[in-house]
Amino acid sequence: MKNIVILISGRGSNMQSIVNANIPNANVAAVLSNNPNAAGLAWAAERGIATAALNHKEFASREDFDRAMMQLIDQYAPDLVVLAGFMRILTPVFCRHYENRCINIHPSLLPSFTGLNTHQRAIDEGCRIAGCTIHFVTEVLDNGAIIAQGVVPILDGDTADDVAARVLKVEHQLFPQAVADFVSGSLKIEGKRVMKQNLSDATAQLLA
Ligand code: GRF
Repeated sequence: MKNIVILISGRGSNMQSIVNANIPNANVAAVLSNNPNAAGLAWAAERGIATAALNHKEFASREDFDRAMMQLIDQYAPDLVVLAGFMRILTPVFCRHYENRCINIHPSLLPSFTGLNTHQRAIDEGCRIAGCTIHFVTEVLDNGAIIAQGVVPILDGDTADDVAARVLKVEHQLFPQAVADFVSGSLKIEGKRVMKQNLSDATAQLLA
């Protein structure tokens, strides 16, 4: 059984999709947040999952917060740390500690549109497609080896909310598959390429 710790900052719908997938050999040991009011914490607690929050505003520096979060996370002996809408930029000390065992979901087709407001920026650039990327976390923001990507169209007249809703559906399909692939040992990082034994559908997904 592999222990998974999921970090969230808000509603936690991606976290819910992972929990609800009942992934074989995966134990969601805890759901943690930097936001004590994150709605997803209550959802997880109702299901008997350990939850806790560390308010980042109460720490003097980014690294102080990261070190405290690492201590909290490590109480659950994680094999995998999943950043599921965790809206914090992480310091190198955190990224190195969880190297090759921490994954993130980002709402764009990386390497395009790192950072925030990804869907509006894609609309503003006239992109025909948008999507999401699940990747290993490295010290460079939104830059680690890519595990899976999902693609949706951007339609005429779409608002950022329209695109976000379309992409979110794909996130909920891809993320549990990517976690399952990690847990089953199917992912091997070779440079920036994640090689997959026993391919699942999580490699890439195109939704018309
Ligand atoms: C997702 O779209 C994720 O890609 C982005 O923030 C959103 C989080 O949603 N980083 P939720 O908290 O998982 O519902």
